[in-house]
Amino acid sequence: MINAGFTPRALQAAEADVRATAVRLLRPLTGAPEFDVVTDFALPYALTVILRFLGIPDEHHQACLRWSDYKVQLMVGRDHTPEQLREYARGLRAFGEFARELTAQRLSAPRGDLISTMLHESPHGHRLSPDEVASLIPTLIITGHTTLAQALAITVRHQLRSPGGWAALVDGTVAVADLVEEGLRLDCPVVGMYRTTVREATVAGRVLPAGSRVLLLYGAGNHDPGRYPDPGRCLPGRWPTAAHLAFGRGTHYCVGAALARAELRIALEEMAACFPALSAAPEASPAYRPTFPLRALTALRVRP
Ligand code: HEM
Repeated sequence: MINAGFTPRALQAAEADVRATAVRLLRPLTGAPEFDVVTDFALPYALTVILRFLGIPDEHHQACLRWSDYKVQLMVGRDHTPEQLREYARGLRAFGEFARELTAQRLSAPRGDLISTMLHESPHGHRLSPDEVASLIPTLIITGHTTLAQALAITVRHQLRSPGGWAALVDGTVAVADLVEEGLRLDCPVVGMYRTTVREATVAGRVLPAGSRVLLLYGAGNHDPGRYPDPGRCLPGRWPTAAHLAFGRGTHYCVGAALARAELRIALEEMAACFPALSAAPEASPAYRPTFPLRALTALRVRP
């Protein structure tokens, strides 16, 4: 039902707005001696795109960023003080109320956005209830921007660190769409997902009884040397599109995959256009947020 909002037509209609968001965020960075790809571009870009795609007015974007961060902190953080916990709880309640109010508005006055589509379309004769749509809003915001920001940052990092990598992107030797896929395969942001077996299954000669809790390690699958010879090398264009597991597989395949691919392509195109001589600032070693299953760089400093 959510997929109804991610048709090629809806994505095509959003493309100009996504590109304008990228340009608006990148332009002020052109004069800076150095900037952080993660916090100065990738996160605000990914968040703005998903909020606008959902149809959330710009004046609420800062609050949505704060509330999303509270939710991530609660899921992955440790050693919170009671004051922090109270603040997160108040924030998440406000997030829920905000989502319900917005849902009620779009129910009575639909617009051409994802919230309206989820409320008013009934693919296969099913329609989501307003409560279901309201509860999906925070989920879509959080899953839709943290993953994307990471995919973008890590792809830029790989390209800057491979000799001639950035120049190849700028002069078109490397096709942007191929780089997007190879970046996702090489270092996928969601390293795995849990599942429970509903019946006995045999995987690689090992019997998993029904009811087993298993962790599907997409990141490891993407480096399976039986499938990808020399899996640690970034070779855009080597595999057919979507040969990797970065968006999962099957029923729960990422609903935002097509939007994510468009966002990554547009961001890389605009970064290459704005910063033809981009280089990595010296870095001791990449620092990651202590999160699982999301793999997320805390920073990526670069020089225009
Ligand atoms: C590069 C960016 C992204 C990556 C790497 C990514 C990855 C994933 C993965 C691995 C899954 C789980 C599949 C499974 O359970 O097997 C997933 C599910 C999901 N993703 Fe994404 N995602 C990205 C972007 C997005 C965006 C932009 C949105 C929203 C617009 C989104 C919304 C969702 C939702 C709602 C699910 C749950 C689907 C379900 O359980 O049926 N994702 N994503």
